Amino acid sequence: MPPFANDQPAAPPRHLLCVVAARPNFMKMAPLLAALSRLAPAPKLTLLHTGQHYDAVMNSDFFTALDLAPPDINLEVGSGSHAGQTADVMRRFDPVLERLRPDAVLLVGDVNSTLACALVAAKRAIPVLHVEAGLRSGDRSMPEELNRIVTDQLSALLFVSEPAGVTNLAREGIAASAVHLVGNVMIDSLRRQLPHAVPLADILAAAGQPAFLDQASGHAVLTLHRPSNVDAGATLAGLLATVAELSATLPLIFPLHPRTRAMLEQHGLLAMLHQPGLLLLPPLGYLEMLGLMRNATLVLTDSGGVQEETTALGVPCLTLRNNTERPITVELGSNTVVGCERGPILALCRAILAGHGKTGVVPALWDGKAAPRIATIIGAWLGALPAARAATP
Ligand code: UD1
Repeated sequence: MPPFANDQPAAPPRHLLCVVAARPNFMKMAPLLAALSRLAPAPKLTLLHTGQHYDAVMNSDFFTALDLAPPDINLEVGSGSHAGQTADVMRRFDPVLERLRPDAVLLVGDVNSTLACALVAAKRAIPVLHVEAGLRSGDRSMPEELNRIVTDQLSALLFVSEPAGVTNLAREGIAASAVHLVGNVMIDSLRRQLPHAVPLADILAAAGQPAFLDQASGHAVLTLHRPSNVDAGATLAGLLATVAELSATLPLIFPLHPRTRAMLEQHGLLAMLHQPGLLLLPPLGYLEMLGLMRNATLVLTDSGGVQEETTALGVPCLTLRNNTERPITVELGSNTVVGCERGPILALCRAILAGHGKTGVVPALWDGKAAPRIATIIGAWLGALPAARAATP
């Protein structure tokens, strides 16, 4: 019997299970966890890593750079085919949900683990909250496009980084009341960490190439990892020939994603990169990547996140794809979708070198405060939920 008849036992805190999986997830989740932990009442936050990325340079180094606490749970799924990797995450995630019974699962981005966890949570009727919802390239040959479409269909709350996402979700029949245009959490991390970016000279020194840029008045950065660009030998060789040509004019720094390195080795193409103006690096940490990009003359990439980061930095970006799911980086930002053909790529590089590069403007709501906006909406939503699920200890 409580001391006073009207005393109610305190309600347990709401419980959010927050999922990360691969390199681009970490900079999205870090500001979200910080903002959610400042809510009053604060929800219980459990961080689960699926283990899709596992090498220190693709994984734990990012936790350190972003002040992320180590995950509470790691599913250690590792690499595999799309079906195998997705299935492994599903198999290992399901018992965790059964045991923890969180009030909701918070997912970011569009990697295979995002899709897998959304499916498992939705089948258990646990609400999915999706950050970076609504982005569409219109290209269903991209694995991420399928992951985005399905995850959004299964989500209860959808947080969108640019206006096109709101239009896309409306077209796909998602209720407007579930959709929130909140801005870009990647840019929250970028703004917070930019003062800590590693100076270019330190990156070159660490690579044993302190004099690489001594005679140069600028540099380009290249990232390449999309299966459509790196898996087929002919496409990859064509791109390498183009960047090798560019590197004779503008020194080019190329951190190599493990998938790309594997493909270069498999197709016997590594020798094409032995050029005096081309510096190959291992995958870089977040603060090194910011240091490399922020003073670059131009960036060539097929990454989604890099298109956004260069727009935030005002650095001209050439996207080596035929489409983008992030159209605002082209409409307002510094991005140009150029494709993979030598002619247009080199023509645009020449224009940038002649001082005609796009620097653009930073889109509205890419102001470093997206995560607090999301946390406020989640806090209100959690507060309005019916009585908490009974978690097994
Ligand atoms: C994944 C995401 C992609 C994201 C990218 C960022 C999907 C479908 N793709 O692609 O959206 O832009 O991450 O990097 O989810 N590998 C390692 N060490 C690691 C991780 C991967 O060596 O820590 C190698 C393995 O050989 C692996 C390959 O890279 O097979 C590809 O990894 P995977 O996670 O399947 O896809 P990514 O290409 O990294």
